[in-house]
Amino acid sequence: MTETEKYSIDNLPDLKNLRAINYANIPDDQRPRVRSIGVLTSGGDAPGMNATIRAVVRAGINNGIRVFGITRGFHGLWKGEFDEITTRQVSETLQRGGTFLMTARSKTFETPEGVVKGAKMCNVFGVEALVVIGGDGSFKAARDLARIGLPVICLPGTIDNDIASTEYTIGYDTAMNTAMEAIDKLRDTASSHERCSVIEVMGRHAGYIALNVGIATGAEVVLIPEHKYDLDRDVIRTILDGRNMGKRHYVVIVAEGAAKATDIAEQIEKATGIESRPTILGHLQRGGSPTLRDRTMASLMGIHAVECISQGLLNRIIVLKQGAIADVDVEEGLQMEKTIPEIDLQRSRLLK
Ligand code: F6P
Repeated sequence: MTETEKYSIDNLPDLKNLRAINYANIPDDQRPRVRSIGVLTSGGDAPGMNATIRAVVRAGINNGIRVFGITRGFHGLWKGEFDEITTRQVSETLQRGGTFLMTARSKTFETPEGVVKGAKMCNVFGVEALVVIGGDGSFKAARDLARIGLPVICLPGTIDNDIASTEYTIGYDTAMNTAMEAIDKLRDTASSHERCSVIEVMGRHAGYIALNVGIATGAEVVLIPEHKYDLDRDVIRTILDGRNMGKRHYVVIVAEGAAKATDIAEQIEKATGIESRPTILGHLQRGGSPTLRDRTMASLMGIHAVECISQGLLNRIIVLKQGAIADVDVEEGLQMEKTIPEIDLQRSRLLK
């Protein structure tokens, strides 16, 4: 009987009181040798997800491991949407945005029933470990599967760069470049009309895109969800000071989790009389061909995932740590916290 077979709809696991095995603590010769894996993408898509799948498929097959693609994230896992992938089938995917496996957000996986059913589907298809490409929410679902005995490997794929265990998430660089190019164009027209352009970038809970794109585009104001802002002091005063210094146009960047561009534009116009226009970049930032950084990170992280699997080093999150690709225990990784230090925001204000 495999670990996962202990559980059923009549014998549901108490997920909170279980802990995934840390295979790093098990001697190499006692670790499982996995011959068949499943791979899925989950949560918001990110440029470079296809490159990650490709790397897992090719490195996996070249290491003698069969790889099954699972469509529609955890939803497809639950429904049994498994199909074996060949190296040829991932040809021409490296440069494509989105995810050819498709993705979904599934609430089912927050329940013990959903977790048990997902693990059972893996048993049906002979999948001995699952590779999950996604963000924190997806990693939690993966960890729950690991808690009931299905080994997992997590690969960070989200434009938000908000996964605590890693310095970098696949898709972040492409999204920032897309936003930067759009904001440069908005600056051209704001400058011609002597306007204020208020641009909302993605980041419901994290301001990494807003902060770095703000630095890269020379924004006057950046608002991020990690730090409270005072409208008069941090926005209106800054713009008025700029005008007094001779500025004739302004760029304000707001992360979607910090404020709404429409509200901020309205408030700026009301308080300063400067014509202000909001733009919401939205899902534009999630599409497009991945940059060199995302293609290489996706490929090298995907290879590292397969190296872990080949060594039976399971239940790991593949991360970038001090600039090098590494891996951490899934339970430990999900305990970590990450935030933007206030000093980083203050530093960006020195450039206005
Ligand atoms: O991919 C991450 C993210 O872009 C967040 O910044 C954003 O809040 C969220 O996804 C929105 O995604 P969706 O519109 O697909 O729910």
